[in-house]
Amino acid sequence: MAQPADHHFDVIVVGGGAIGLSTGYHLGKRKAKTLVLEQFNFKNQLGSSAGVSRQYRIPYPEEYMVQMALDAQPYWEELQTLTPKTLLDKVGTLWFGDPSVHSTEGNIAEAEQALKALNVPYTSLTAKEIESQYHFRNLPDTYTGLFQADGASIDFRATIETLYQACERDPYTSLHEESPVTGIEQDGKLFNVTTPKGVFSSEKLVLVPGPYIDSVINLLGFTIEATYWNMSSCYFKKTDPKIQYPTWFVFQNAIGSNGNQFYGFPGVVWDHPEYIRVAPDFVIDPLESPEQRTLVPNPKELAYTSEWVREHMTGLDPTPYFTSTCLIALSKIANKELLIDFAPPYVPNHHNIVVYATGWAAKFTPFLGKILTELALDGHSTFDISPFKLGYNYFKAI
Ligand code: BEZ
Repeated sequence: MAQPADHHFDVIVVGGGAIGLSTGYHLGKRKAKTLVLEQFNFKNQLGSSAGVSRQYRIPYPEEYMVQMALDAQPYWEELQTLTPKTLLDKVGTLWFGDPSVHSTEGNIAEAEQALKALNVPYTSLTAKEIESQYHFRNLPDTYTGLFQADGASIDFRATIETLYQACERDPYTSLHEESPVTGIEQDGKLFNVTTPKGVFSSEKLVLVPGPYIDSVINLLGFTIEATYWNMSSCYFKKTDPKIQYPTWFVFQNAIGSNGNQFYGFPGVVWDHPEYIRVAPDFVIDPLESPEQRTLVPNPKELAYTSEWVREHMTGLDPTPYFTSTCLIALSKIANKELLIDFAPPYVPNHHNIVVYATGWAAKFTPFLGKILTELALDGHSTFDISPFKLGYNYFKAI
């Protein structure tokens, strides 16, 4: 059934986290009449946009990911022009640890190869140099590292606020919260999207609901193979007020249930400035579905993090003062961190349904919105998304 004019849009974006708002912003710039639907409130803490800081980094083991991080830079610069707040605190990226370890972030030597191939400057480090220059201690002599100066701590709350305000100002973009999508029907070329606030129609969909991806794509008859991590974070009080860390990640082999990979941030003005955030990059109990999640961090993950801080960091009280959690969907297919694709061909009008799912994408926020906008409006992107496409046996019909 045809919807009234104020219920009809060129594009409906499902998911109002950082990537959904970025897509709403870029669609608005292209003068596409856009509706962004958020199932909870905008700026909520219940999905993958929870928390207030993220890492921008260029090192990746794959050259195409290094390229994507480089290509994201001008879009961060553009977003920066919309706010007086500094979005990227450029403290650098420090990767260090056991050079033989391959983690969810990759491997140090492979990242060095990819950086070299794309002429990205970095410095190689020994364990002793990491200790003397970056305040870590008791590192095994076999550890190596790299420092890349363009890495940054992202003020993620300010990023989301900037995008939200840009969407609010844009005459082409509408924002509806408390609007979970409960049905998507197709009527010829039109999608009719049902929410508690009404039925809205469009010829294009962009689906970016973060960890809730399956509940949305199931409405179109397909599913995705993902696991869900309820990631914990801890804040440790500085005992040395002057101590400063870069953004960092340590590569180590797991020991039993201790996944033993940790990452951390500098002290930043926007996030408990007297504290330093350190977090485990593993979960002891991955979830089968987002519904299993609680907002309580796993106490063993916190204890392992605290123990690592006590053993290997200086200038911090190793008792976690604050904690937080963030829910993320991760692809079960090896080496497929981010999935960017159209819906599979057995879904009618599949080329009008753009999907972004899984992986750690905050560092690409302003760029990913642009890519998804191009896919929705032009049917292709100037950025090569072929490494992120999955082949249609991955998106399974249900
Ligand atoms: C990342 O840079 O993608 C990342 C950093 C820390 C934990 C997880 C992901």
